[in-house]
Amino acid sequence: MKRIVKVAVAAATAGCLALAGCSGNSDTPSGNDSTGQEQVEVFTWWSTGSEALGLEAMVEVFDRDHPDVNFVNGAVAGGGGSSKNLLQDRLDAGDPPDSFQAHAGLEIQDYILAGQVEDISALYDEFNLRSVFPTDLVDLLTSGGKIYSIPSNIHRANVIWASVPVLTAAGLPATAEFDSMSAFIEALEQIKTATPDAIPLSVGGVWTQVHLLEVVLIAELGPQAYNGLWDGTTDWKSGEVKAALEIFNKLMSYTNTDRDSLDWEEPSTMLIDGQAAFNIMGDWAPANFDSKNQVDGADYVYAPAPGTAGVFDFLADSFTLTTGAPHPEGAKAWLQTISSLDGQVAFNQIKGSIPARTDITPSDFSTYQQTAISSFKNDTIVPSLQHGAAATIVQLNTITQAVSKFTSGASDIETFQAELAQAMA
Ligand code: GAL
Repeated sequence: MKRIVKVAVAAATAGCLALAGCSGNSDTPSGNDSTGQEQVEVFTWWSTGSEALGLEAMVEVFDRDHPDVNFVNGAVAGGGGSSKNLLQDRLDAGDPPDSFQAHAGLEIQDYILAGQVEDISALYDEFNLRSVFPTDLVDLLTSGGKIYSIPSNIHRANVIWASVPVLTAAGLPATAEFDSMSAFIEALEQIKTATPDAIPLSVGGVWTQVHLLEVVLIAELGPQAYNGLWDGTTDWKSGEVKAALEIFNKLMSYTNTDRDSLDWEEPSTMLIDGQAAFNIMGDWAPANFDSKNQVDGADYVYAPAPGTAGVFDFLADSFTLTTGAPHPEGAKAWLQTISSLDGQVAFNQIKGSIPARTDITPSDFSTYQQTAISSFKNDTIVPSLQHGAAATIVQLNTITQAVSKFTSGASDIETFQAELAQAMA
């Protein structure tokens, strides 16, 4: 009988690392578990709610395809924020999971440069993957001609979600479409006045605030100048950036005060519970709506985030073979499943993202996902800051600290702007 074992929750992992020789894997010297079976420990932050359901769907395919390998679930809570720090602690402590979730773009490049992930180009040949992924995406996973991870999915970050009952109660039309942030702010103002008990815009802890900031930067600067923030051609100290930060500040004034203790799912669920009107979040949100039986169009509506129609703010999850992985054969089995058509279809149908593979049938996916498939094909693609595509891990951490200081009232807009400029200098 195969097992799904949860070995690493945040606190347990931290405690475990403090103990010499405690690895979290009950492996024997042969690399198998105590029952003699091959295993693979996979690190993600898909630890709860709809994200855990997405992972489970992938694991079902894995169990079918690799009945001889135990899946060990190394998921930790904390989203793409604190959980990445826990992963780093494990890598630094020489206690690597066999495979881990990493974002395409500068984030995976960091792990490549640090020698923490193996070249898996040969698996692209063995699994016949060379022609199934978009070339631009594989380029983001490549360094020096070698490919270091396999993408499982593509998410769009610039989406706004709205609660139809809350909009209706405030006398607003049931739409999330706004041409600009200023038109959106008028709607937020109306929610505040007409339904004082409702939160106009729900948000969570600091990583979700960085996510909101990146969407505001895209809306206010436009895709070209937004791209320039990452390649040095847009001046972080400019008046345009300052105006965008003022909009960000204004949006934050409509958000819930308990935000800092929350991940993304609670603010999304506030729409379902009738507590909040709008939420700007990536398209892992529909999985939350689906898992709570919400009906697209009747209970919730969505659109590209205000002022970002025609832009696809891109991120992709990918999986690695970790350097020093205790179970490389198990990791190879996992990488086979996550790269397979069956694995990508089963996972993405639940997760809300679109498969990274291009040989899929769009009608196998939800109405929302079909809009994402079409946008990814036709719109201008820009890299996500929060989700590892645009900036290195160190740059993102520095930006995150600046955002946290600003939204907690410990810095003013001038200091905030100077700290962002410094992070990217
Ligand atoms: C992103 C990740 C997504 C989703 C999201 C929220 O960084 O790429 O797959 O998990 O975080 O947790």
